[in-house]
Amino acid sequence: GYDISSLLKETGNVTLDVGFVNTASCKSSITYIDGDAGILRYRGYPIDQLAEKSTFLEVSYLLIYGELPSTSELADFTERIRRHTMLHEDLKDLLQAFPRDAHPMSVLSAAVSALGTFYQDSLSITDRDQVELSTIRLMAKLPTIAAYAHKKSQGQPTLYPDNQLGLVENFLRMTFGFPAEDYQVDPVVARALDQLFILHADHEQNCSTSTVRLVGSGQANLFGSISAGIHALSGPLHGGANSAVLSMLADIHRSGDDVDTFVKKVKNKEDGVKLMGFGHRVYKNYDPRAAIVKKSADAVLKAMGVDDPLLDIAMRLEQVALTDDYFIERKLYPNVDFYTGLIYKAMGFPTDMFTVLFAIGRLPGWIAQWREMIEDPATKIGRPRQIYVGATERDYVAADAR
Ligand code: ACO
Repeated sequence: GYDISSLLKETGNVTLDVGFVNTASCKSSITYIDGDAGILRYRGYPIDQLAEKSTFLEVSYLLIYGELPSTSELADFTERIRRHTMLHEDLKDLLQAFPRDAHPMSVLSAAVSALGTFYQDSLSITDRDQVELSTIRLMAKLPTIAAYAHKKSQGQPTLYPDNQLGLVENFLRMTFGFPAEDYQVDPVVARALDQLFILHADHEQNCSTSTVRLVGSGQANLFGSISAGIHALSGPLHGGANSAVLSMLADIHRSGDDVDTFVKKVKNKEDGVKLMGFGHRVYKNYDPRAAIVKKSADAVLKAMGVDDPLLDIAMRLEQVALTDDYFIERKLYPNVDFYTGLIYKAMGFPTDMFTVLFAIGRLPGWIAQWREMIEDPATKIGRPRQIYVGATERDYVAADAR
């Protein structure tokens, strides 16, 4: 409805691309996506190979440093992370001060931001050693912060990390150990969670990663940039979709398992209702991560002896959607979030924690992207333009004359 020629006269030669649908913000050599073919690769390695054969820490190393580590490089990386898993006692006090019913994504973001106050010796963006130290600190402390946020919401005492354990096992123990002595890590659960973290580890210039880069482009420190990224991830159109999917499945179950009526509502766009966990800005084909998660959901639930009627509803929803013209025409397929919630639920995580798990998985990607940006001599501060459509010049009117 705008008069484009007069807008161009006023704003100069500016491209309007709402939502950055066609605009690249950077060059990157980290993650490759072919959305039409459903291909995802980290540093050239296909996601299905990494999900099957690698580990979360190895993939984190790959994303951050560019190559798969040798055995000794991985051992060194793991050991450095292990040494930084503890939280400063004052940071724990800060976490305790939040209301018990606070959303754990808000707690996570606030705590990561606060790391910048505790670790002022690793705020530099130009000193390589400091960037390395903040990288390791974040990788080590985010799972501890996440577990503490969960414990706080349960009114249970927090547990110190047990550094005999691996990153995922340690996180599971700190989250579910109550009392700690009785908790045995189930290797099926640990492996499944490790694989989910791999699947979430990077996804090029998505909303949260672009946020991390944009904040960092103003030369803000790594802790602050990641804290902003956590908030960007929290929304239901992005990482928050994993918990929204579960609420949707539970609502359908409560209302009598009527998948067809729900799909009709979605197609009619009644009250803006969407099929959560479906659709993607880049994938116009099956999200390769969703295919792996779907297999894993089936296997993990079976291995854990969990028979969840919501899995059946999810599978029927997918079946209906994939054969319906509305979804076919718009190329809407399940995304990574469609089946993850069912696995997290079977593992015992409350719905509020689902997006926190996404954040732990995405952390190495955010760090890798931030580091690539600050090391790139072509980087400029991110500063989009706008097309002004407000009032033209007018004179101020005194309050009593308005
Ligand atoms: N359910 C129903 N209709 C949908 C859905 C959906 N999940 N997703 C898109 N559509 C429809 C839109 O209404 C639009 O229809 P129209 O052409 O009649 O107007 C069309 O498909 C195109 O959708 P857009 O909103 O323009 O697509 P966009 O690329 O902007 O949005 C997004 C992508 C946000 C992921 C969207 O598909 C969505 O909201 N999905 C549900 C939330 C979700 O699962 N988010 C997680 C994404 S993956 C991730 O962040 C890890």
